[in-house]
Amino acid sequence: MTPFLEIKDLTFDYIQQDGSTSRALSGVSFHVNKGSFTAIIGQNGSGKSTLAKYMNALLLPTSGQVLVEGMDTADPASLWEVRKRVAMVFQNPDNQIVSSIVEDDIAFGPENLGVDPDEIRRRVAEALQDVEMGEYRRKAPHQLSGGQKQRIAIAGAVALQPECIVFDEPTAMLDPKGRTEVMKVIRRLHEKGITVILITHFMEEAVQADQVIVLDEGTVKMNGTPGEIFRRREELEELSLDVPAPVRLAHLLRQRGIDVPQSVQTNEDLVRCLCR
Ligand SMILES: Nc1ncnc2c1ncn2[C@@H]1O[C@H](COP(=O)(O)OP(=O)(O)OP(=O)(O)O)[C@@H](O)[C@H]1O
Ligand SMILES: [Mg+2]
Repeated sequence: MTPFLEIKDLTFDYIQQDGSTSRALSGVSFHVNKGSFTAIIGQNGSGKSTLAKYMNALLLPTSGQVLVEGMDTADPASLWEVRKRVAMVFQNPDNQIVSSIVEDDIAFGPENLGVDPDEIRRRVAEALQDVEMGEYRRKAPHQLSGGQKQRIAIAGAVALQPECIVFDEPTAMLDPKGRTEVMKVIRRLHEKGITVILITHFMEEAVQADQVIVLDEGTVKMNGTPGEIFRRREELEELSLDVPAPVRLAHLLRQRGIDVPQSVQTNEDLVRCLCR
């Protein structure tokens, strides 16, 4: 089966104002299966956002290749098809909202694609349901909380009917309640079959993925399941990365001689293991 996304030996240099170059990505290779949930973690400046911009051809490789469903993003003939398949959601919802009424904002993308008005209405209604914001459809976005605004930005991406959504730190500016709501929506979209790529600084979010990719200074340092990645606690610490709180607690309990299996990843795992 062809993976949904294949990144092959991708290298990219930014050109600075003085004409010098700085390497942001170096020999990055990995793939993402259709319908999967991939988390990308790495400290500030490790190249996560740069990598995200390759996934829907906002950037093109200096060297290496990016394939979306087998289509080379560097091929101008594929650009439209690639952009149709991969939508992006960014950190700041205020930068992504363009209309003064919620439902007009969600309709904006499909309107620009020339989608039929009846079909737009159907898509907006479904997207509002997906993000649980139906009752806010006539509201002005500035009346909403950060988490609600981000859910509207997500609904805007969903209304484009992409196969994949790349989320670049969608919860970074939200309070804990907003973060929980947005993660719930992301999980629902994944369950509906959308390929999810989530860039995050929150390990409790990364642990919910099927695959975790660890970037460091523009290279892939680790790639595996959350179970495989988060048991490498010391290596992650060397990269200034944390592990999810239950994994840290499990480690402290093991140091005290309590038998907690390495498979503990989430609060539920830990509770189950301690209450058995
Ligand atoms: N437009 C740009 N021009 C020049 N250099 C850039 C530009 N954007 C990013 N960089 C540099 O490229 C490297 C990777 O940046 P990138 O934004 O991809 O990292 P990141 O992992 O997303 O970081 P953060 O966690 O802070 O969002 C950094 O060294 C950064 O300074
Ligand atoms: Mg970034």
